[in-house]
Amino acid sequence: MSNKTAMITGGCRGIGLAISRKLLAEGYQVSILGTARIEKVEPVLDQLRQIGNVLYLPGNLAITGDRQAYLESTLTRFGQIDLLVNNAGVAPDQRLDLLEMSEASYDRVMEINLKGPLFLSQIVARAMLQQPDPAAGPDMPPQSRRPRGMIINIGSVSAETISLNRSEYCLSKNGMAMMTRLFAARLADQRIFVYEVRPGIIDTDMTAGARAKYDDLIELGEFPIRRWGQPQDVADAVALLASGGLSYSTGDVLNVDGGFHIRRL
Ligand SMILES: NC(=O)c1ccc[n+]([C@@H]2O[C@H](COP(=O)([O-])OP(=O)(O)OC[C@H]3O[C@@H](n4cnc5c(N)ncnc54)[C@H](OP(=O)(O)O)[C@@H]3O)[C@@H](O)[C@H]2O)c1
Repeated sequence: MSNKTAMITGGCRGIGLAISRKLLAEGYQVSILGTARIEKVEPVLDQLRQIGNVLYLPGNLAITGDRQAYLESTLTRFGQIDLLVNNAGVAPDQRLDLLEMSEASYDRVMEINLKGPLFLSQIVARAMLQQPDPAAGPDMPPQSRRPRGMIINIGSVSAETISLNRSEYCLSKNGMAMMTRLFAARLADQRIFVYEVRPGIIDTDMTAGARAKYDDLIELGEFPIRRWGQPQDVADAVALLASGGLSYSTGDVLNVDGGFHIRRL
């Protein structure tokens, strides 16, 4: 058991909920940000409390003050942060062709999917750097090769794969891929490692509206592993990285897409 603290944005629903369950089961204390009112998520929180220690803060990732409050409440409750999982994200409200995409939709998606995680990572990284590093010093023990903090971004195959009817989403996830590399390079010296977990098509509320389309693509063999991805598949990848076993890797992308990223002729 790890007894560490993880911040998981959007940790009460879909992929985020699976990540919360998994990390709680691995001994993490979990702090969740979501837009839902506390009364709405209380039944989910009750389930999570059966596994471990959970804090929920209602708030909007796109709002500066809400991100700051999320950080401060987490530190007040748990005293430290070991892992940030930037999971919360939205699809466009309407799937419109690139030539019809509105500025309002662009702003909404970019603020929640890119600006929010970027500036949350900034304040969390600063907080992590203020925490004592138990492995620091001239006689660094072998375990000092392990990360002292970690940020995992939940990206998307849309970082590299275009969908002309949700361009703003593709742009936001492409930006998140760059954000992963920027933070990885900036924080490597301080042994805060940064990764992107890149899901394909995962069975959640986000994909419910396009179920028939994805059913067809799976049937046609577009995904070498011929099934829908499940939130648990993504949670398993997050837990694997969070274990800290990769001591000489940062800035990497872990695809969780059934092999969709493999180019074929
Ligand atoms: N499903 C897929 O096929 C798929 C594929 C690739 C990548 N992803 C990515 O995986 C992540 C999770 O997606 P999902 O499928 O689990 O989506 P989902 O079921 O729609 O859940 C989205 C989560 O994000 C939270 N959220 C949305 N807007 C927020 C905001 N402004 N502030 C704080 N929290 C907010 C929601 O919390 P509330 O309910 O409280 O609002 C919810 O927990 C997203 O980043 C998504 O882009 C998903």
